[in-house]
Amino acid sequence: MISSAPDSAPSPRGPSIARPRLVVPPSPSAPRERTPPLALVIFGASGDLTSRKILPALANLADRGRLAEEFTVIGVARTDWSDEEFRRAALKDVPYAGEGWRALVERFRYVAGEYASSETFDRLKEVLAEADQRYGTSGNRVFYLATIPSVFAMIAEALAKEGCNVPGEGGEFARLVVEKPYGRDLASALELDAAVHHAFDEDQIFRIDHYMGKETVQNVLALRFANAIFEPIWNRRYVEQVQITVAESIGVEHRGGFYETAGALRDIVQNHVMQVLALTLMEPPTGMDATHVRDEKVKLLKAVDIPTPDEAVDKSVRAQYVAGVVDQVAVPGYREEEGVAPDSTTETYVALRLRVENWRWAGVPVYVRTGKRLAARVTEVALQFHSVPFLAFEGELARQLRPNTLVLRIQPNEGISLHFGAKVPGEEFRVQSVAMDFLYDTAFRDNRESDGYPRLLHDAMCGDATLFIRTDEVEQAWRIVDPYLEAWSEPGGGLHFYPAGTWGPHIADLLLERSGDSWRVPEL
Ligand code: BG6
Repeated sequence: MISSAPDSAPSPRGPSIARPRLVVPPSPSAPRERTPPLALVIFGASGDLTSRKILPALANLADRGRLAEEFTVIGVARTDWSDEEFRRAALKDVPYAGEGWRALVERFRYVAGEYASSETFDRLKEVLAEADQRYGTSGNRVFYLATIPSVFAMIAEALAKEGCNVPGEGGEFARLVVEKPYGRDLASALELDAAVHHAFDEDQIFRIDHYMGKETVQNVLALRFANAIFEPIWNRRYVEQVQITVAESIGVEHRGGFYETAGALRDIVQNHVMQVLALTLMEPPTGMDATHVRDEKVKLLKAVDIPTPDEAVDKSVRAQYVAGVVDQVAVPGYREEEGVAPDSTTETYVALRLRVENWRWAGVPVYVRTGKRLAARVTEVALQFHSVPFLAFEGELARQLRPNTLVLRIQPNEGISLHFGAKVPGEEFRVQSVAMDFLYDTAFRDNRESDGYPRLLHDAMCGDATLFIRTDEVEQAWRIVDPYLEAWSEPGGGLHFYPAGTWGPHIADLLLERSGDSWRVPEL
C-alpha cells in the first residue's frame, strides 16, 4: 500500500497523473461498502462538535476502510489555523486511531474565514477544485454544518451563491448535513427551512439526530418488523401504557451557556424522544427506505395530540436540579453551573403525558420523561401490558403480581427484557416478577456502544437518508412541543426542583398517579 503524501501546498495536476492513495487497512469483519469519491467540508471545524464527534467518527470509518480512496476533508472555521494546525488538532482529538486515520489526516485542508465573507467561500471553491484534481474527489461534496445554529442559513445561502449547492464538474451530488437544534420553536424552524430550501432541495438535506444512529434505536425496527410475535400485541388491546425515559446522570457540563437557551424540552424531547416515540409506535412501513420509514414516522407524529397551552400545563412537569449527590459525589445545583444565571428558570427535567390518537393507540397513555443529574444514565422504552382479565390467585399473591412489561433498553447495557411472573420455588404458591433478558453484548461479541456518528456520517456520504430527519418530521415535532413552550413562558413557568441524584421531582409522580399509574424504576 502506498501512503498519501503531505499536501500543504498541492499543485493542481491533470487527471492523468497518478494520485496519492489512502492507506485502507483490510477489515475482514466489516462490510466492504465504501463511500463514493467526495470532499467532506466541515463548517465549524475548530469547534467542540467536530473534535468530540465528527473527527472520531471519521477516524472510525477510515480505520475500517469505509471511506473511498478518493476522499478528503476540508475544515472551515473562523479560528486562524493553517492546514498543519488543523491536522495537529485532529491527531490530538483522536490520538488512538490507526494507520488509515493518520493517512487521511495528512490530506486535511483548512480554510480560515468569516462565514459572512465571500472571500471564505471563494477560497473554499479553490481548495475544492484542488481536491478534485489531486485526490479525484470528482466534484462530489458533502457540506457538514457543525457550527452554531444562528449561521446555518447564512452558510447554506452562501454556498448556493457560489454555486456549491450543485456538484462540481463531473460530480454527482452536493449535500448538506445539518446538526440540531433545527430551530428553537415551530416559527423559527419554518424560517430556517425556508432559507435552507432556498439554497438546497430537500433531498440534498440530511438533518442529524444522533439517536437515529444508535444500534438499539434501529433495533426497534428489527424487533417490531422482523418478528411475528410482537406485532399482534403491539396495540391498545394489549398495551396499557408506554413509558419513554431518557435519563442522564451528568449535568450540563461545560455547555451551561447553550443549555440556558435550550432546556430539556428543546434539547431532548423535540428530537430524540420524538424519534424514539415515532419508531416505537408507528405503523409498519412497506419498505425500510427513506421514504417509507419517514412517511410512517410523520403519520405517527401527526397523531400525537397537541394540547392547548392550558392543557399543556396540566399534562406536564418541568423542573430544575438543585445540589445533591450523584454516584456518591456531591454536585452543585443547575444555577451554580458555569454559564448559568443564578436565577435561571430553564428546565433540566421534563415529564409529559401524551396521547396518540389513532386506531392502534387510542386510550393508551404515553409517558415521557427526561432529565439531567438524575439517579442514573438510562434510556429505555417500556411497554406495560394489561393485567390478566381474571385472577384465580387470592390475597397477598394477587397483590404481588405485576403486569407484564417489555423493556427496550437503548443505553447502557443495550438489550431487551420481558418481565413476567414466575412461581417462587417452595411449598407456598408465591409469584415473583422475573426478567427474560437479551443483551447485545452477550449476543454480539463485537458490539460496542456507539454514539451513532460513524453510521450517520457514512449514510449521509452514501446518500441514504433513512436515518435522517425530514422537514415534515421536524415541523411536526415542534408542533407537538410548542404548546408546552408557550405554557411555560410565563415568568417562573411552573418550575419545580429536584435534588441531583434522584429520579426527578415528586410532582412528576402525581402526573401518573392521577390515572393510577407510576413511573418504572429502571433496572440498573
Ligand atoms: C444531545 C444533547 O443531543 O444528547 C445533550 O444536546 C445530551 O444535552 C445528549 O447530553 C445525550 O446523548 P447520549 O447519546 O449521551 O444519550
